[in-house]
Amino acid sequence: MDDGFQNVDATNADVRDGVQDRYGAGAQAVEAALCCPVDYNPQYLEIIPQDVLDRDYGCGDPSRYVREGETVLDLGSGGGKICFIASQIVGAKGRVIGVDMTDEMLALARENAPIIAERVGYANVEFRRGHIEDLKLDLDALDKWLAKNPVKSAKDMEAMDAEILRMKSELVMIPDDSVDGVTCGFALRNLADLGDFFDEIARVVRPGGRIALLDVSTPPNRVLRFGNDIYFGKIVPKIGAALSDGPAYAYLPKSVAYLPEPAAMLEMLRSSGFDDATHRQLSGGLTQLMVGTRR
Ligand SMILES: C[S@@+](CC[C@H](N)C(=O)[O-])C[C@H]1O[C@@H](n2cnc3c(N)ncnc32)[C@H](O)[C@@H]1O
Repeated sequence: MDDGFQNVDATNADVRDGVQDRYGAGAQAVEAALCCPVDYNPQYLEIIPQDVLDRDYGCGDPSRYVREGETVLDLGSGGGKICFIASQIVGAKGRVIGVDMTDEMLALARENAPIIAERVGYANVEFRRGHIEDLKLDLDALDKWLAKNPVKSAKDMEAMDAEILRMKSELVMIPDDSVDGVTCGFALRNLADLGDFFDEIARVVRPGGRIALLDVSTPPNRVLRFGNDIYFGKIVPKIGAALSDGPAYAYLPKSVAYLPEPAAMLEMLRSSGFDDATHRQLSGGLTQLMVGTRR
């Protein structure tokens, strides 16, 4: 059966390649097929430039869990929309850090950050390039090192591995216990190992800090589920394949399908250190939200 589910054997690298191709293209031109209708608080959208609003490809707003004065880490920050909303909520005394791995998305976010700063009257948002499942390694710092130390041999590769270890201990991108809250909108499904990801966010959130993780879900209602399956399983990969290369989009249905059941994700979150983690279906089960507090 060629439905896009069966013939993708996703590894971490496959998924990262697919994700970067897909969102790299999405950062450069609006892809309506990848957008979901979402109600954001309009008060916070007024100052956000239209090119950011058009290219976020999220399906919900985790920034409502953010409070004034907090340091907030937004994972899979894309074009920066959630960060720019959170920037206004945390205010001048707060701080927002967005992390994403896709160059084009980061470029969009970084070029709009000064515009937001001017409009709110303070600069409290920064964007870092990294893998959200490995928040110790700053990929911009690694690229700078690689520009001076290109890898051409196995010996060079050993030097690079040693440098990565050094960076992860001496130049930690997001240090332990350093943020009050983590938001993540629609990047969970792109991760090959959610358990490692939950351990990593537990490392960076201070005790008592909170997390809000949103992603798409499989609706319990049969009619909604049918529509959802057609949308993510058939329409998105076909439109994606027509717009760019097929494999970049083919990973998507499987990646939605491989998010574990809610009970399994809650179990993982609790064992990572979020004892009170809860799960809720939103929008008739089209999206799901997990929140929790770091023990
Ligand atoms: C659907 S977009 C969501 C953007 C934003 N969070 C929102 O809700 O509007 C997903 C983003 O997550 C990023 N992403 C996915 N997997 C990632 C990973 N392993 N590390 C870093 N970024 C990742 C993609 O590059 C993309 O920009």
